Amino acid sequence: MRLSLTQEKLGQEERLATEVQQVQGGTEASTSAGISIRDLNVYYRNHHVLKGISLEIEPKKITVFMGPSGCGKSTLVRVLNRMNDEVAGFKHTGGVLLDGKDIYDKSVDPVLLKTRVGMVFQKPNPFPISIYDNVAFGPKIHKLYKSKQEMDDNVMTSLQKAALWEEVKDRLKENAMSLSGGQQQRLCIARTLAVHPEVILFDEPASALDPGSTAKVEELMVELKRNYTVVLVTHNMQQAARVASKVVFLYKGDIVEMGEAPGIFEKPTSELTEKYIRGQLV
Ligand SMILES: Nc1ncnc2c1ncn2[C@@H]1O[C@H](COP(=O)(O)OP(=O)(O)OP(=O)(O)O)[C@@H](O)[C@H]1O
Ligand SMILES: [Mg+2]
Repeated sequence: MRLSLTQEKLGQEERLATEVQQVQGGTEASTSAGISIRDLNVYYRNHHVLKGISLEIEPKKITVFMGPSGCGKSTLVRVLNRMNDEVAGFKHTGGVLLDGKDIYDKSVDPVLLKTRVGMVFQKPNPFPISIYDNVAFGPKIHKLYKSKQEMDDNVMTSLQKAALWEEVKDRLKENAMSLSGGQQQRLCIARTLAVHPEVILFDEPASALDPGSTAKVEELMVELKRNYTVVLVTHNMQQAARVASKVVFLYKGDIVEMGEAPGIFEKPTSELTEKYIRGQLV
């Protein structure tokens, strides 16, 4: 991996290395960070997809983005770790501040940013390598391990945090593709956790899973909220009601309403939100 040794990057590498040590010492610090979105506009070529979004995403909460298909939920969540940088025609104006610093500032390395702001996708996407190597992959790239013991400990801790350890501890060398869909999704969560993110983004993480696996992923998100900033995109109203701290309703690239759960489900102030909740807005 190419890394230019600016102060900022060195600082981040040190921070990551320190966190790995903290995990090994069993005294892992809480690492959640807030995100401020300031008057954010996003375009794909001439298509104006997000229109002046301003929003505070608070640490140690689950912020849920909801709204009809095509309203911009995935675009908004992908902006938060610069997943859209390579999309042809993508441009943005406004600010996205992680812990007070704009993630689009030219001093920020997008690769390191993705370790601070991890992402779990709709379709589980493990690498076709062993379960163990999937989890160790990110930390190895970032040279976070000083010994085999550190690597073993980090793999175990990450799998434990993703509620998968008990199911895979005797088959760590097996190919990850041999896991069930729900297990693969938890492996992807473990892989994200292994590099010690501050924020975890979930874009419809359970929509391809059976009800049992969905329940496990939901439990896990609630557990992760204790230490991380969590953002969730979901179409599933019941799921949002079960896990959300705060809900943001989007419609055609605008925020129509946002507020604390569960109140927002019981008493939406916007007619559009009410229609969406009743399933009358598609
Ligand atoms: N890579 C891209 N290039 C061009 N336009 C895109 C791209 N990705 C999304 N769009 C457009 O941006 C708009 C918002 O899409 P986005 O995927 O953010 O919606 P969404 O709310 O996540 O929808 P869904 O619920 O169906 O996942 C849509 O009109 C979509 O066609
Ligand atoms: Mg989407």
